[in-house]
Amino acid sequence: MAVTVVTGSASGIGAAVCEQLERAGHRVISIDRQNADIVADLSSATGRRAAVEAALAACGGTLDGLVCCAGLGPTAPSSSVIVGVNFFGMTDLVDGLQGALTRGIKPAITLIGSVASVHPGMDRLPMVAAMLANDEPAALAQADAMAMPQAAYAGSKYAVTVFARRKAVELGPQGIRINVVAPGAVETPLLDASRADARFGEAIRNFVAPIGRNSVPAEIANVVLFLQSEQASFVHGTVIFVDGGMDAMSRTDRY
Ligand code: NAI
Repeated sequence: MAVTVVTGSASGIGAAVCEQLERAGHRVISIDRQNADIVADLSSATGRRAAVEAALAACGGTLDGLVCCAGLGPTAPSSSVIVGVNFFGMTDLVDGLQGALTRGIKPAITLIGSVASVHPGMDRLPMVAAMLANDEPAALAQADAMAMPQAAYAGSKYAVTVFARRKAVELGPQGIRINVVAPGAVETPLLDASRADARFGEAIRNFVAPIGRNSVPAEIANVVLFLQSEQASFVHGTVIFVDGGMDAMSRTDRY
């Protein structure tokens, strides 16, 4: 039985991923702030270390899959906590569980990014450079200094995508696949909170995908399940947009 760690398992996309993986026969080790096998706060280095240690103990040091869903939207209490969870909450889990994955059977990692990652200018943000240099104190300080939660969100998703592409080069020879799923608008509590926000709710409500609707978590989980399966055995280091055409709409001729 494949053993897969899933973060952000208590809600939205993570909960749908757990349900589908379990239905496909995986043993899921869930991580979240609440209602999970491992209760941990992924916004802090201490919480992430505790999560990794508990996951290693739960899987006995051998892991077949890792799916990082835990994330905060732009309505989170601060820009730094968005960066802490969305970037370091994924990268520290990948790094911490990499050894266990090398011992797994056809191991695979999926990180949940976002269509927001293609927002122009993200590659030039100092906070993104600090994230990619793995300098957490500088990244958090830059994020709070910028005080633009939407930039912290898009920047963290851009950085985590670049991290995955870099990791693909390192992990391929070890037999570990890694990919990113970039959703558009998905009906979850995160989207509810963003839509209701006085600062950017209207823009979010008006940004409708060409397909004419938002998705539901199961539509994102379907793709995660594929990426974690043998059917995706040659899919590595890529970004799959599951966004109803939002990326195609927002940068039609820029690819
Ligand atoms: P959600 O709010 O339903 O679920 C997020 C989960 O992450 C929750 O269970 C929450 O407890 C957990 N989490 C947050 N902070 C945490 C922390 N410090 N420690 C441990 N767990 C923590 O949101 P949703 O929409 O399911 O989000 C899942 C992922 O999908 C996120 O990475 C989000 O950025 C991404 N995404 C969501 C989109 C949407 O429209 N809903 C669009 C694009 C990407």
